[in-house]
Amino acid sequence: MSRIVVTGKIPAAGLALLRAEPGVEVVAWDVDEPMDRAALLAFVGGADGLVTLLTERVDAELLDAAGPQLKAVSNVAVGYNNIDVSACRDRNVIVTNTPGVLTDATADIAMALILMTTRRLAEGERIIRSRTKWQWGMFYLLGSGIQGRRLGIIGMGTIGQALARRARAFGMVIVYSNRNPVAASIESELGAVMVTLDELVATSDIVSVNCPYGPATHHLIDAPLLANFNPTAFLINTARGPIVDEAALVDALERGQLAGAGLDVFEHEPLVHEGLLDRDDVVLIPHLGSATVETRDAMAVLAARNAVAIHRGQPPLTVVHS
Ligand code: GLV
Repeated sequence: MSRIVVTGKIPAAGLALLRAEPGVEVVAWDVDEPMDRAALLAFVGGADGLVTLLTERVDAELLDAAGPQLKAVSNVAVGYNNIDVSACRDRNVIVTNTPGVLTDATADIAMALILMTTRRLAEGERIIRSRTKWQWGMFYLLGSGIQGRRLGIIGMGTIGQALARRARAFGMVIVYSNRNPVAASIESELGAVMVTLDELVATSDIVSVNCPYGPATHHLIDAPLLANFNPTAFLINTARGPIVDEAALVDALERGQLAGAGLDVFEHEPLVHEGLLDRDDVVLIPHLGSATVETRDAMAVLAARNAVAIHRGQPPLTVVHS
């Protein structure tokens, strides 16, 4: 019997797939909140496979607590910065993630944040909910239109490209920065032009962060870069919080170096920098990028299929190479 330990509550479709697999015993945590660390370390003991959420830190300590029989960690997320991949490699533990299935949901949220920030939607909603007196007026709560405006996408992977498609439908012009240029056919479909990061931030009306998080992108958006933003620009982050130096962002907003921000992710999640909380020029939502019923089902199923493939000695569908 191989033991697959699921360290967080996942949709039933994923669990059913694991439970239907002959020769697999499934042990699943069934509460929709992260387990405390000591309980987690005890829970993973004896696992042959782990199915983990982005809230679990999978490091040497946790791998050792699982034991030397551990073969795989199947993360239920596209981002895998919660996993120490080199510690896994050292122990011959395969790591998988869930790319593709959450691309549209995350791009939708990025587009939603672009509209919410530029059109001041959360601010308007707060006025009504706080029972503040309001009156339609020619100059009341004016935002800025996005047609013909320039969207700078940092990280032109599948989510960045899906955002570009949406933004094009809204009449936006696309530039991007990336480690490598994307295929010429994609550039021409999206009318997208690759520029340097410095040029991107200096010339874009909206800057959207869509790159993975790791040592190379820690605080990629820092004080010097924020100083080069267009003062009328908005920053959108649906990737990972620590890509943005949150204290520097608060400072830059305070100085008027940019017009506002729409954030789905935070540097010290679930904590949010105090300096953001009272600002009307920021929209703050609690890491909802992949939060649709369909997407979470698809993520759980893909992670489970990866775990099952590894149990069968087959190649996993979406392995992490790094
Ligand atoms: C969500 O944030 C993910 O990485 O899947």
